[in-house]
Amino acid sequence: MDFKKRLMRTALMSFVALIVGAGIGFYQIQNQNAAVVSKGSSDVAGIKIGGPFELIDHNEQTVTEKNYAGQYKLIYFGFTYCPAICPTELQKISKVLKDLGDDAEKIQPLFVSVDPERDTVAVMKDYVSLFHPRLVGLTGSRAQIDEVLQDYRVYAKKVQNEEYEEYTMDHSSFIYLMDPNDELLSVYRIKDTAPFVLADIKRKLGK
Ligand code: NI
Repeated sequence: MDFKKRLMRTALMSFVALIVGAGIGFYQIQNQNAAVVSKGSSDVAGIKIGGPFELIDHNEQTVTEKNYAGQYKLIYFGFTYCPAICPTELQKISKVLKDLGDDAEKIQPLFVSVDPERDTVAVMKDYVSLFHPRLVGLTGSRAQIDEVLQDYRVYAKKVQNEEYEEYTMDHSSFIYLMDPNDELLSVYRIKDTAPFVLADIKRKLGK
């Protein structure tokens, strides 16, 4: 990929990200009571979160939820062209895993693309390596991605701005902590700091 072109685009899209980010932030403030759920429950306000999936990892292997069975998971949905929010949240995951020390090995971090058209296996491979050596990038066909987005109640929509050549994605931004049985333990929002997430994970692992 042309790095210079990509930098230019990133600068242009930062403005879009600000607006999208403000919108997501507002949505999340309105929904903050739904954020942290009790252990063993996959229900946020009665809605089941998570489910089986089949996707392609950044090493071109077809994987399902069974590949990560028995591990806790931190799952984030986003796209590699995201100028601000996704990198920040992935850095947060990376920091939390670092600060967890040995306990981090119990957790598999997963980054699922909401933009499989552009997020090819090769793009995902380059991208995840920027954040954490164990971060797995997952992409797939439109249908495979749509199914996982639906199961995790992720909002994602292509946004075409006439001023820019390329589209961006408007998407919800939550980090999901799943237990080894794929039950939802917590949902973290943009405003949840790395120390907050770390403390919550320590509590959840301790139980
Ligand atoms: Ni993003």
